[in-house]
Amino acid sequence: MRATAIAHPNIALVKYWGNRDETLRLPANGSISMNLEALFTRTAVDFQEGLAADEVRFAGGPAGAEMSARVSEHLGRIRALAKSSLFARVDTENNFPLGCGIASSASAFAALTVAACAAAGLALEEKQLSRLARLASGSACRSVPTGFVEWQVGSGDSDSFASSLLPPSYWNLRDLVAVVDRRPKAVSSSEGHRSAWSSPFYRRRIDSAPNRLEACRRSLIDRDFGRLAEVVEQDCLLLHSVLVTSTPPLMYWKPSTVEIIQRVRRWRDQGLPIAFSIDAGANVHCLTPGDSAPAALDRLREIPGVLEVLQTDPGGPAVLTV
Ligand code: PMV
Repeated sequence: MRATAIAHPNIALVKYWGNRDETLRLPANGSISMNLEALFTRTAVDFQEGLAADEVRFAGGPAGAEMSARVSEHLGRIRALAKSSLFARVDTENNFPLGCGIASSASAFAALTVAACAAAGLALEEKQLSRLARLASGSACRSVPTGFVEWQVGSGDSDSFASSLLPPSYWNLRDLVAVVDRRPKAVSSSEGHRSAWSSPFYRRRIDSAPNRLEACRRSLIDRDFGRLAEVVEQDCLLLHSVLVTSTPPLMYWKPSTVEIIQRVRRWRDQGLPIAFSIDAGANVHCLTPGDSAPAALDRLREIPGVLEVLQTDPGGPAVLTV
């Protein structure tokens, strides 16, 4: 059976970093994110008789060995649930750059989970799909539900999944992604999660996460941009403090990343509502209310080193397409 799904990446407002269980990808702390409507992964899965192995294609050509292995590992989980031994042909494409801090693994594994479960004849509820996506890539569990999403730490595998806090239409926030480097990062997030515990600051970040989660939830519910900016930037800087103090150290920023951070803070002091957030990559997500987006966009485009600025509204859930 064949099925196709689309999922959006998400930007974490309070970020996930590090697992308390690596195999089950049970996070050390809860996280909150916003789906990114204009960016997507589209994935078709077709379980077929007569295949000797899974065949994975990306952007019309054969996928690399690493991507194929990760996809196949995830299909194995779905085959086990469906009690099937059929291999699949997978065709996947993205409309944004891969592996550079724009959460491509989140949209990829959310789309794969939704398409593969449907193709395997499994009718799972959203929370089960989210839980399953989590096993492939933590942040993927947040790309299953719609809009503004929270991933609960949970007590174990069965209750660590994401659900929607607010629909995308609740707040017309815009994410302007200033792309300064389109190349995939040298060290993957999966590797990074494993070294998180080596940072002397990590424990502190985990212990203080509940306060940031509460501040983030409140700022979204109240549509309080000032409070959101404060918590989003603080969480991002705490994450990158952990990264640079881990063994081995992880430094994802480029000089233009720092230039954008400094300008964003200056613009906010001058009255433009804008806040930065950076995942595991050099590219900078700039959040701003929709009516300030045109001014913010003009300013971001003028910064030397900014190759392009992707623009997006809050996004919907992972869905099957016809
Ligand atoms: O889901 P992963 O393993 O790609 O990790 C995502 C980590 C961050 O993007 C840095 C933070 C987050 O919560 O998305």
